[in-house]
Amino acid sequence: MSFEIKSMTNINEGIEEILITHEELIKRIEEVGKEISKDYVGKNPLLIALLKGSVPFLSELLNSIYIPMEYECVKVSSYCGTKSTGCVTIEGLNKLSIENRNLIIIEDIVDSGLTIQKTIEALNEYHPASIEVATLLDKPSMRQIENIHPKYICFKIPNKFVVGFGLDFNQQFRNLPYVGVLKPTMYME
Ligand code: IMP
Repeated sequence: MSFEIKSMTNINEGIEEILITHEELIKRIEEVGKEISKDYVGKNPLLIALLKGSVPFLSELLNSIYIPMEYECVKVSSYCGTKSTGCVTIEGLNKLSIENRNLIIIEDIVDSGLTIQKTIEALNEYHPASIEVATLLDKPSMRQIENIHPKYICFKIPNKFVVGFGLDFNQQFRNLPYVGVLKPTMYME
């Protein structure tokens, strides 16, 4: 399925409402980075960032994690337009050394929970010491997989399709500095 992006001279025109401002994002991500630092002292965690949506979140988070750590990125895809395809693909895991490592999956948003569930299953094949999830956004009302409870959640949001700060609509809007609700006219015919 493919969608046409309505023509815009400024991507802010596509946004109905700002849900989380840039300042709010930065403040909360800093708190979470410090929390991770306290929880993982002496554990040299390996952050596994799910491309592409988590890139701005990862990059901001790194500024406030002050313990030794490493990160890797893997490509995960599940969405087409505003709907999850239900089919999750993960590329790049086989190249990582994750046995006995304390992993933290870095995700942009947990919605149905399917992507995280499939990622955890795939990572478990490599026998890590532990796996936790840090997500920028959580849409708990949309959960289909009940036992997914991210340890670190920056913001819980209502069931609205959001873009910005890494989150996209058909690869667009990732470069908004805030999280906003997409105007339905952007994806309705
Ligand atoms: P889940 O597998 O349903 O939990 O969805 C997780 C993935 O769906 C995320 O990594 C996002 O790429 C995408 N996603 C879910 N909700 C939204 C949204 O509101 N805006 C943009 N992408 C979303």
